[in-house]
Amino acid sequence: MDFTLSEEQLMIQQAARDFAQQELLPGVIERDEAQKFPTDQVKMMGELGFMGMMVDPKFGGSGLDTLSYVLVMEELSKIDASASVIVSVNNSLVCWGLETFGSEAQKEKYLAKLATGEIIGAFCLSEPEAGSDATSQKTTAIDKGDHYILNGTKNWITNGSSADVYLVIAQTHVEKAHKGINALIVEKGMKGFEIGPKENKLGIRGSDTHSLNFNDVVVPKENRIGEDGFGFKFAMKTLAGGRIGIAAQALGIAAGAYEMAKKYSKERKAFGTEISNHQAIAFKLADMHTQIEAARFLVYKAACDKDNGANYDLSGAMAKLYASQVAMETTVEAVQIHGGNGFVKDYHVERLMRDAKITQIYEGTSEIQKIVISRSILTSK
Ligand code: CAA
Repeated sequence: MDFTLSEEQLMIQQAARDFAQQELLPGVIERDEAQKFPTDQVKMMGELGFMGMMVDPKFGGSGLDTLSYVLVMEELSKIDASASVIVSVNNSLVCWGLETFGSEAQKEKYLAKLATGEIIGAFCLSEPEAGSDATSQKTTAIDKGDHYILNGTKNWITNGSSADVYLVIAQTHVEKAHKGINALIVEKGMKGFEIGPKENKLGIRGSDTHSLNFNDVVVPKENRIGEDGFGFKFAMKTLAGGRIGIAAQALGIAAGAYEMAKKYSKERKAFGTEISNHQAIAFKLADMHTQIEAARFLVYKAACDKDNGANYDLSGAMAKLYASQVAMETTVEAVQIHGGNGFVKDYHVERLMRDAKITQIYEGTSEIQKIVISRSILTSK
């Protein structure tokens, strides 16, 4: 097994690290506090090629592999998980979904703008009564010949008000259950499409999360992704890759908190010496480092599976399950190592702890990952 990153991957990793330090770190506390979307930073990330990392250059993308994407997600998330979720949704759910399953016309029309960050996208699956139970879609897309009439409500949508393009999952043929679901491309500004209030969140407060309402929205049939009834498969296949991005986000949050805690432990003195000299602190750091390395290998393995054309449902779910658990545990310990300062916003770790929680919830909760993992291991030989 070769764990060495290529020169190109190391360069991309360094570019993301520099960007995060220079452009995300200044103002990250203020953006979190004010729930301010990082508009300028998203534009810069578009210019750096971070918004369409795996997209073919002929559609304006960077044409890189999933491992490079994961490296970038990790570095951005060490500093600002609000910015990294915007990158993740745009890359893995919207761009990848469109490039893999969209028509040529859809790619021409939307992908180039999405991949360069000129516009951003949102992925709209969750509903008030269809979160984990994603087949229970109540949003309807009624077939009217050359168009659909879309009605319903979507919840907790990342990039809810900032996006221009929304991939909306909706039920067309109720009698066919999940086989009667479609995925439609909806544009901001279509008549009857309203953006609901912004959620006031525990973490990733710089990203904008909204409910969306669709009232008799006319969506042309050419905006359907794939064949009639492909919508649920589209959502599942897209989310399988999305989970690798969120796993990388969790890994970055954990690694960011660990790096800060390690640095702090070598500066802060108690009982006449740096606190890193106390075994109580040194052992915490040892556990954190070990868990993060284990999470990193799971995340990289899932990315490599995707790059090698292997099935990544299982490896992606394991990576997300474990990395998000490590993010939660590590950030709690990072706050503990910082003591009273850890409870103060200036030291960043309390924000990382709040940000970590969502990685156990979105793009499939930890419990959903266990469903995916257990089904996979029990049906294999
Ligand atoms: N790839 C392809 N097809 C898949 C699939 C996959 N990874 N997983 C499931 N399917 C298919 C199944 O094969 C089945 O199709 P057939 O009937 O044709 O065989 C169909 O989907 C239904 O599958 P199940 O019978 O397994 O459905 P289920 O209801 O038992 O459970 C589930 C499926 C895994 C629990 C699924 O509902 C799920 O993943 N739920 C979580 C949803 C989720 O992740 N939501 C996140 C919201 S998006 C978000 O957070 C984005 C953001 O903004 C950050």
